[in-house]
Amino acid sequence: MCGIVGIVSNKSVSASIIGALKKLEYRGYDSAGISTISNNRINEQKCSGRVDNLEKILFQNPSDGDLGIGHVRWATHGIPNQINAHPHSSEVVSVVHNGIIENSDKLRDEYIKKGYSFKSQTDTEVITVILTDFLKSEDLINCIHKTLEKLEGSFALGVIFKDYKNLVVGARRGSPLAVGYGHNENFIGSDSYALKSMTNKISYLDDGDFCLLYREKVEFYNSEKKKINKEILELSNEDNIAEKGDYKDFMSKEIDEQSFTTKKCINEYLDKSRNEINIYNLPIDPKKINKIRLIACGTAYHSCLMAKYWIEENTSIDVEADIASEFRYRNVKLNKDDLYIFVSQSGETADTYAALEKCKKNNVKTCGIVNVVESSIARLADFVLPIHAGPEIGVASTKAFLGQMLVLYLLILKISKERSEIDQENYKKLILDLIKLPDFIKQTLSKQKDIQVVARDFVNAKGTMYLGRGYSYPIAMEGALKLKELSYIHAEGYAAGEMKHGPLALIEDGMPVIVLAPKDRYFEKTISNMQEVIARGGKVIMITDDTSTTMSENIRFKFQIPKTNSTLNPFLLCIPLQFLAYHVALLKNCDIDKPRNLAKSVTVE
Ligand code: F6R
Repeated sequence: MCGIVGIVSNKSVSASIIGALKKLEYRGYDSAGISTISNNRINEQKCSGRVDNLEKILFQNPSDGDLGIGHVRWATHGIPNQINAHPHSSEVVSVVHNGIIENSDKLRDEYIKKGYSFKSQTDTEVITVILTDFLKSEDLINCIHKTLEKLEGSFALGVIFKDYKNLVVGARRGSPLAVGYGHNENFIGSDSYALKSMTNKISYLDDGDFCLLYREKVEFYNSEKKKINKEILELSNEDNIAEKGDYKDFMSKEIDEQSFTTKKCINEYLDKSRNEINIYNLPIDPKKINKIRLIACGTAYHSCLMAKYWIEENTSIDVEADIASEFRYRNVKLNKDDLYIFVSQSGETADTYAALEKCKKNNVKTCGIVNVVESSIARLADFVLPIHAGPEIGVASTKAFLGQMLVLYLLILKISKERSEIDQENYKKLILDLIKLPDFIKQTLSKQKDIQVVARDFVNAKGTMYLGRGYSYPIAMEGALKLKELSYIHAEGYAAGEMKHGPLALIEDGMPVIVLAPKDRYFEKTISNMQEVIARGGKVIMITDDTSTTMSENIRFKFQIPKTNSTLNPFLLCIPLQFLAYHVALLKNCDIDKPRNLAKSVTVE
């Protein structure tokens, strides 16, 4: 949450900072700000709302200067207004921050007693004050180091100093920070995507590191103030394909890309000439895995729930799926014979990262399934499986969810094969079915218009439910999450068999209810649950691969997905649910790519 950028250059930086901040808006979009140094003073300009607002302010009142920092905020401490927006500056220093300073109240009291005053309600301002204080007595390196030592919590920082006119400082503990290298200019940013129009040469700070960015060089230091070297990575062109093109928003583009991204991911992992899945060198011999624990947040957690069903279906391995924010604090018994899988699109989610750190400290075997391969989770896990979905910018995850399920599915099939729990013939058949999946996804995507019609039913709905059994249950949960986050309508996903145990009381005349009823072994039971909903006035939207029409009476609408083997149904069922959330949000005039109160990369717990 929050995005930061810093540039030191030999030309004016404000336009480039604004450009980078627009790319970082997916991390936070409740306020924005910039500081540059010119005429021997810090020029801080900030506002509530989007980067567009900041751009208008700068248009009226340009911010000159050939070095500067910028910020987009997702509020933690203090409401999103102009005063709480970053940067937070004193006469001599200006700071942007992503993360949470957990001891900020204590530090505030300490510095108020020393005679300092605070303008904002933020935790960040203590950093400005501490730096200002240390500058009076310490050299630059000690000033930075001593300040960082006083901070508890998580941060990525960008700092400029009035009296250092060739310097931007970056620091990291717990929140990501990338460094970009240019010609006579250097950059910091919350991720490489923000810097991509300026450079494709990137390094990453590790926890505890800080860096001094000059026009002509970058110096790195570790938490003990020792100078260190960093590897420079060259980003591929593929990392740079995050433009909206002709699409109205990123979400519609990302939904539409799913046939392509699925095909690409399958190609990355499948050796079609041998019908073999190329996943080798797992950190634990598949034959010896005692238990698999899947850990993630939000949509990524739903992919873990999905994997639980596939693991139970295809292997004899015991399995549990956990929400990372719970797992990290529970007294979980960690076991050396277990495999711990962490799923995260961004690879930066604070809770998932902390859960991974806990496992690493206990020397158990870890695997990360991520979209961003340079991310913190990818760098910490013993073994990494990328989902190859390309940048996902819309805050609501769509193509990454499909990618997460796909990689989990491939991994599970491979483990099952290595353990001889699936026979060769069935393995081959499942692989051949998988090769057809991108086409089935394409067919499903082509039916967007069907959902557009039914979306109207939801605009004035008080709430809705998504029901499913077996493989369809995690998808019901994911569908409900998509509708909630995009259209702000209350929605819950239930195991259809649970309805009688309470949720049925919520059904009212005309309430829209989505029933996921593919023709699998749960079909008849799901249909009975559906009839119970209909009998109480529920307006059912049924999503199925069943083509018989006899049971379509009393069903407001039936969305047909193509017929494939039932293990693959989840990949198809989730598409109409993405469309539904999208079109309801569109009808309600909601911000599709940036739903209220949310951010794409949740780097605070
Ligand atoms: C919902 C959504 C979130 C994320 C969650 C974890 O559409 O995107 O629920 O899935 O914040 O994020 P990652 O996958 O980056 O760890």
